Amino acid sequence: MQKKKVGVLTSGGDAPGMNAAIRAIVRSAELEGYEVYGVERGYQGLIDGEIKRLTSLSVTDIIHKGGTFLYSGRCEEFRTPEGRLKAKASCQKFGIDVLIVLGGDGSLEGAIKFSKLGIPCIGLPVTVDNDVVSSEYSIGFDSAINTATEMIDKIRDTARSHGRCLIVEVMGRDSGNLALSVAVACGAAAVLIPEIDGASSEEILIDNILGRKNIGMHGLLVVVSEGYKNKHRISDLIAKKVGCDVRTSVLGYVQRGGSPTAKDRVVASQMGEFAIRLIKKGKLNRAAVVIGGNIVDVELDEVLRPREGNTMDLYGLMNIVSK
Ligand code: ADP
Ligand code: F6P
Repeated sequence: MQKKKVGVLTSGGDAPGMNAAIRAIVRSAELEGYEVYGVERGYQGLIDGEIKRLTSLSVTDIIHKGGTFLYSGRCEEFRTPEGRLKAKASCQKFGIDVLIVLGGDGSLEGAIKFSKLGIPCIGLPVTVDNDVVSSEYSIGFDSAINTATEMIDKIRDTARSHGRCLIVEVMGRDSGNLALSVAVACGAAAVLIPEIDGASSEEILIDNILGRKNIGMHGLLVVVSEGYKNKHRISDLIAKKVGCDVRTSVLGYVQRGGSPTAKDRVVASQMGEFAIRLIKKGKLNRAAVVIGGNIVDVELDEVLRPREGNTMDLYGLMNIVSK
């Protein structure tokens, strides 16, 4: 009997833990007697046939490394039916029976479309934004929270020493998940997120800052999510209403880099192994997600559908602990 051939690619924004997941996929697949093929540069590499055989040895010494040793990318061509047909031809050329896609909501949307061409796909949520809405957790999120918190702890020193208000912009695209966790973790005075955009959050912001200033707190932090529409006017608003010295710091790509935290290495290893278990059971076109703290599988088609009880609890918490 021919050996099953499993393809794996990383797509979209890189995130710490991608390598740990690939490692787990390769090692668990080998134990099942499957062959693993690594696709480089995400969907672009799939279209261009940049595919290489991976073995247990290829994934040694990568569990602790950030980024993705398969490289990632954004690929406009894959959004077109023609591009996806070229990608299908590459899978056929290499005899790939099933493709594991590691990435955020865009990459998983791509996998849903690709699976309709008859190449079964398994999706794993990997993004520092933690915005794959069916899953409580995406690989990379914990590392990004920790990196951002560490950076903001340093920024806090200047805020306190100069009595300034420091606005720190964090990533997240259209999601405030990263901003919320980071704001709670670094004890920010307020958080601004795209989900709650506008006058009410700005009122809370000014209220909190004034409240803290009036009781003599020296130096304040505000966390703003990159997707917050009015982020550019926040600095002037604070300066005008509070009358303090304001500075802005955009954290940027440091949040996506660096060694994955132990949590991300563990979840990535679990999800990678889980993906191979799904293939073994013949459960294809599924995605691994975290629900109730457990890794479970859902239909790939359902992976971008918000789970029930997906609330913004941390926003409520912020409004208590930042008073
Ligand atoms: P992420 O996966 O981190 O959310 P993107 O949204 O940039 O990142 O998506 C990564 C890639 O996935 C895109 O460059 C594209 O190749 C593919 N993709 C995203 N959305 C779609 C879509 N609707 N149809 C097909 N491919 C898509
Ligand atoms: O999806 C991860 C992410 O880092 C977002 O937070 C951010 O908006 C985007 O990717 C940046 O993308 P790029 O790599 O194209 O600059």
